[in-house]
Amino acid sequence: MTKPIEGFSKLTKAEKLDWITANYTENPEAAKNVLKRYWNTDKTLQRLHDEFIENTLTNYYLPFGIAPNFLINDRLYAIPMAIEESSVVAAASKAAKFWLKRGGFKTTVLGTEKIGQVHFIYSGNTEKLIVFFKEIKPKLYSDAVSITKNMKQRGGGITEIGLRDKTDSLANYYQLHCTFQTLDAMGANFINSCLEQFAATLKEGARDFPAFNGEERNIEVVMAILSNYVPNCLVRAEVSCPIDELHGDGTGSSEDFAQKMVRAVEIAKVEPHRAVTHNKGIMNGIDAVILATGNDFRAVEAGIHAYAAKDGQYSSLTHAEVKDSTFRFWIEVPLAIGTVGGLTTLHPLVKLALEVLGKPSAEELMQIVAVAGLAQNFAALRSLVTTGIQEGHMKMHLMNVLNQLGATEAEKTKLTEHFKKNVATHSAVVTAFEKLRKS
Ligand code: MEV
Repeated sequence: MTKPIEGFSKLTKAEKLDWITANYTENPEAAKNVLKRYWNTDKTLQRLHDEFIENTLTNYYLPFGIAPNFLINDRLYAIPMAIEESSVVAAASKAAKFWLKRGGFKTTVLGTEKIGQVHFIYSGNTEKLIVFFKEIKPKLYSDAVSITKNMKQRGGGITEIGLRDKTDSLANYYQLHCTFQTLDAMGANFINSCLEQFAATLKEGARDFPAFNGEERNIEVVMAILSNYVPNCLVRAEVSCPIDELHGDGTGSSEDFAQKMVRAVEIAKVEPHRAVTHNKGIMNGIDAVILATGNDFRAVEAGIHAYAAKDGQYSSLTHAEVKDSTFRFWIEVPLAIGTVGGLTTLHPLVKLALEVLGKPSAEELMQIVAVAGLAQNFAALRSLVTTGIQEGHMKMHLMNVLNQLGATEAEKTKLTEHFKKNVATHSAVVTAFEKLRKS
């Protein structure tokens, strides 16, 4: 059995490769070759990636693609997407083209408020804590001035610090619930630095507060951390068109199609099993842009799914209606993202993605990301309520299956041609491949 290792992070990269492949792979030389194939020959670029995290062995690639023709508030965008799922960029491009002819996407930022909390335990009289909080509040702001100065100069900073009594949920549990504006930065470091300063000021202030006695002086700060649940950092994206302009590809009437789209959204609103898959499709678009632009997809995912459950049941993030002969389809999602700081200035591809998007502000990027989510959902529902998802999906997946089968370039060309006219299920691809090989 492999023994635990001390000081792994201190080993050189070559030593790490030796150790991991010798202890955890069947063929160490073959495994080392796989890892090394992904090393970048540009040493500066490789060093940059090595230093992003601890114990880097190699790089992990995802395709970086572009979905063009997105008309958003009358401006045309080509949206960069980083994703491995074969049909996502194609679906986004198709939805973009569809809405390009119907007025494009309209978006609005509904709020940009970020949240952070200092969670603490106070076992004493609540009235006294309220008095203490009123007294200490100006010092909470003033002690954080060295952290907030630059952000404030640019128009952001702390917007509110409130005391919340949470003792109904947990004995002696209170919070400082704090809100922030962080402009073009996602703001995690700024918020967490402010919160840690608030925690220190709070603790220290309580020790010297004359009205407190005994245990009351001893506020126990459990943790100080931003919240990834940001329901007031919200963006809306929508599309609409007269129903008779909706369809356009000859499969059924526009009226019928509009009703089916509305039904599909209604189902996702009331049925959590469907809502999760419905929203997963939305996240196909959102995550791909979030990744391409160097934002934190875990934060975005956590916040969006919490928002989808805000009314007590997990539900659809998109909405649809048919009213006055118009089809309307829209999304509202919380997005705490940035276009400065973090990876945005460090990662060359992220920088390029932002350049392609016209160096957007954080608010603009929120709108672009929401559009990518809405477009993806539109494309998925459109397939689901008409042809079914597999037709388009398997077309895009065909190349993956052919690569798995070890098809040559000539075989790929022939089979791609064949499946333009035939339905590409997995077994149909295998059968056609085997037939071609035999011939
Ligand atoms: C697949 O990645 C996403 C879909 O399942 C989304 C949906 O069902 O709405 C097609």
